[in-house]
Amino acid sequence: MREGPPSTRDYANDFDTVTLPERDCDAIRDLLIDMAAEKVIEVGLAYGSSALAIGEALIAVGAERPMHIIIDPLQDSEWSNVGWQLLQSAALDAIARLVLQPSSLALSQLVVDGCTADAAFVDGSHRFHEVFVDLYFLRKIIRPGGTIILDDYWWPSVRAAAHYYEKNLGWQIVQEALDGRTVDDATRCPRAVALRLPDHPFEPAFESFRPF
Ligand SMILES: C[S@@+](CC[C@H](N)C(=O)[O-])C[C@H]1O[C@@H](n2cnc3c(N)ncnc32)[C@H](O)[C@@H]1O
Repeated sequence: MREGPPSTRDYANDFDTVTLPERDCDAIRDLLIDMAAEKVIEVGLAYGSSALAIGEALIAVGAERPMHIIIDPLQDSEWSNVGWQLLQSAALDAIARLVLQPSSLALSQLVVDGCTADAAFVDGSHRFHEVFVDLYFLRKIIRPGGTIILDDYWWPSVRAAAHYYEKNLGWQIVQEALDGRTVDDATRCPRAVALRLPDHPFEPAFESFRPF
């Protein structure tokens, strides 16, 4: 965070605008360590700040076979591979795999492959329908009782997508998680939330649909 990435896109303050702030990176790292996460899926690599935090957590947990699957279709074309190179410079690529596809395709393939994980961090496309689809597939990948950390919950498009799962599928925001994260001064809405999936997943009847 002090030095910044080796290069940025040609927009003013692009690194500060795009990347996850340091305090949120620390909060995510600490949450993943607390839950002893061994396998984590990440959507949206960009400058790699969140990926470095997740990698740090996985190393700290010290599982035998940690795994960090990172999905970003634009890491090469838009970000000149800066995020991935930073992971390489920290030797965190040894426990990571980068998938250069849109998350809707990559996550559906992970479902087909029978992939499971303890947690996910979602900071990819912020369009409602794409966040909704990310959460749809992650629900099939993250283990019962696992956690999905959703960045930019303070944006209506992102929050609306999450509300479906909160209202209809038993996902719960863990209020005490993510100590120190960024909070909007005016609304007090947190930037990122940790959503805990139910211990006993269920498929609700379509008649019990709750508008969200
Ligand atoms: C806000 S940035 C992520 C910032 C990153 N967490 C960090 O700390 O630097 C959003 C990222 O999502 C990626 N993205 C956009 N559409 C996507 C999609 N459909 N699937 C996966 N990633 C996507 C972008 O290329 C970009 O890298």
